[in-house]
Amino acid sequence: MDFFDSLVLPHSGDNLILLKYLLILANVVFLIFSGVLFASSILSYIFRNRSRQIAKKGPEFINESHFFFRLSSDYIDLITASKIMGFGLGIIPFFSIIMIYNQLLYLTSVNISGFLLFAFLLYLIGIVLAYSYKHSLHLNWIFKRTNPNENIDIEEIENYQIATEKLNARTSVWSIIFLFFSLWFFVGSTALVVDKTHWAGSISLINVLFSFDSLTKFLHFIITAFAITGVAFIVKFYFWDKPSFDRSEKYSNYSQRLNTWIALTFTFFQPVFFVFNLFSTPRTSMTNLIYIIITVIFFLSFIVLHLFYQSIKENNFKSAIPGFYILLLIFALIIYKEQTAFGISVSDQILKLADKYEQEEKATLLASGGGEQKVNGEEIYKAKCVACHRFDERLVGPPHKEVLVKYLNKKDDMVKYILNPVKVDPNYPPMPAQGLKPNEAKAIVEYMYEHYGNEIK
Ligand code: HEC
Repeated sequence: MDFFDSLVLPHSGDNLILLKYLLILANVVFLIFSGVLFASSILSYIFRNRSRQIAKKGPEFINESHFFFRLSSDYIDLITASKIMGFGLGIIPFFSIIMIYNQLLYLTSVNISGFLLFAFLLYLIGIVLAYSYKHSLHLNWIFKRTNPNENIDIEEIENYQIATEKLNARTSVWSIIFLFFSLWFFVGSTALVVDKTHWAGSISLINVLFSFDSLTKFLHFIITAFAITGVAFIVKFYFWDKPSFDRSEKYSNYSQRLNTWIALTFTFFQPVFFVFNLFSTPRTSMTNLIYIIITVIFFLSFIVLHLFYQSIKENNFKSAIPGFYILLLIFALIIYKEQTAFGISVSDQILKLADKYEQEEKATLLASGGGEQKVNGEEIYKAKCVACHRFDERLVGPPHKEVLVKYLNKKDDMVKYILNPVKVDPNYPPMPAQGLKPNEAKAIVEYMYEHYGNEIK
């Protein structure tokens, strides 16, 4: 795409490798945040509906309905606590990822930037809707708990309540839909480029959404996100936040058990996806490191399963904390593994781009200096310096024999002097500045030492 090509900056090999690492970092931040946002939106939606259905049964069920409403609201608050988070952990990393892929895959014919940009637009809408959902849910909660006294127009309040409820229902469904497709596009297209055999042609929409790689990796992403969301719920509300008194004993116990079950169930599927994953990782990218990572993830999954099982059995949820960190580690390792495989695929490409960069650098040098450096030095020396200097006799200026000895170990100083001559020896007139560019002065000095170097020793 022309627009994207115009954004590509030439980078040296070192910079490109740095970009490869930034890509891993941005992916970890983005996928963990977005995964939890997506999973918690769904859970929030489920319990919001449950609460509504129970409320319909009659006024005597009001407490039970509030119970689930509370759960719904806790889910959506899990990761949308401040708007800055959506921006810093979602939007910014997503945009950086697009830019980096664009740089790394420059000049290949694979057209992932278009898919990623589309995913990005869906993501922006999804995030805005998710925050609107959160706010309307809170508003709804306030309405539910106000007991209007006689002075207020009850009907008006009721109308508002119905309106926010509608807004709430719409934003919840639509934010989930937008986030779902955005993440599907994202995971699907980034999964495909891991295999460089895909780079030759263009990737079709069907491939991005329905190829084996995309589907298994997307499902894997979703189940990991649900597992983390479950355990993050416990860690945030029962260990990190100050204990809140409006969470009853019953609610605390129910929500912790429920979330441990969620974490347990979704961790349970991890190993299955690793088997899929082994099939979909391209042969050329299967290094020992990748086998080691997969083994480690397997092992960690079993530890987590054990911890969660123990929690449920003993009704004690302290192990949510180690479980949380291990799950984060597993998520980070999955992404690291994915990106390492991509990194191996992209390494030739990096060499190619770095080479191109060097070629371009040389071309600009040639254009500005007019010739190769060595020739350049000799030519300018002969054109500009011999008028006043000889090797072993005094002319207008001192003989180079003396000068070269003086600067033997500080050639940089000589370059500086030539660029900007100052008064040195009272026996000579001052040397006029020669109007040279730094690379020209450097070339002259190099030429002088190369040419006369042997004669001064
Ligand atoms: C117009 C005459 C003139 C030209 C042209 C000239 N020089 Fe000089 N150069 C001098 C003089 C005079 C001095 C002595 C200045 C002093 O001692 O203050 C000198 C001194 C130097 C020194 C010694 C500085 C030191 O620290 O002792 C170097 C090195 C030097 N010139 C390099 C060059 C080079 C390289 C060129 C060509 C790009 C060049 N000069 C062109 C007149 C000239």
